[in-house]
Amino acid sequence: MKILFIGDIVGNPGRVATTQFLDEHQHKYDFIVVNGENAAGGRGLTFDIVDQLLASGVSAITTGNHVWDNKDIFRFIDTTPQLIRPANYPTDVAGRGVTIVASTDGQTQLGVINLAGQIFMSPYTNPFHALNSIIPEVKAVTPYILLDFHAEATSEKIAMGWHADGRIGAVIGTHTHVQTADARVLPQGTAYITDAGMTGPYDSVIGTRTDDALERFLTMMPTRFTVAKRNVKLCGAEIELDEQTGLAVSIMPFQHQY
Ligand SMILES: [Fe+2]
Ligand SMILES: [Fe+2]
Repeated sequence: MKILFIGDIVGNPGRVATTQFLDEHQHKYDFIVVNGENAAGGRGLTFDIVDQLLASGVSAITTGNHVWDNKDIFRFIDTTPQLIRPANYPTDVAGRGVTIVASTDGQTQLGVINLAGQIFMSPYTNPFHALNSIIPEVKAVTPYILLDFHAEATSEKIAMGWHADGRIGAVIGTHTHVQTADARVLPQGTAYITDAGMTGPYDSVIGTRTDDALERFLTMMPTRFTVAKRNVKLCGAEIELDEQTGLAVSIMPFQHQY
């Protein structure tokens, strides 16, 4: 069972790279999961963008702290089951934090969970306890489960990998936009990477124009951030799960230049 995970898609450059890549490679995967929190000009998602991603073969869209940045999302988050936001929000918040999606051939199902970290992030409830209560719900439906853990601190992400080891197929880190060199299958069979990396312009500061970001650091004043354009890469990881157990056979990070 092959899953493609594409890291934080940033703005139009990230969306163009994603649709081009999927046009060519979509058929190789049973499931395609993308993090879309920065897809609309770096900030959130719109209806049209979600529609375009799903039409290009995406099975599920995860998000993170930028999920609410574009208010258009309130129009469709409750009616788009493939789109999830961190599960560790209070229960009455719009949208859902877990989804179960069908494979491209309709034969199997993947449970996709989104959680956000607590360190150097806005307040979220405890993601470790949240995962404990979510796993049995999803396992009642399918043995194949992937978690997008959207967090800043490497320590918190690594701890989540060990917390999940042997219980779900994959823990994929997002949010820092820089791919880490630590992809591995943990001893009990969970595929893990601290960060899948960004899909967007790399001549930038994690997707933002360098002059905008430097102005903020130099003046310490609020500045407007715009998405950069040059040196676009698509980053992510391919994960293979064992069909019997749902645990990982392999994880292979990749960076594809556009
Ligand atoms: Fe992001
Ligand atoms: Fe983020």
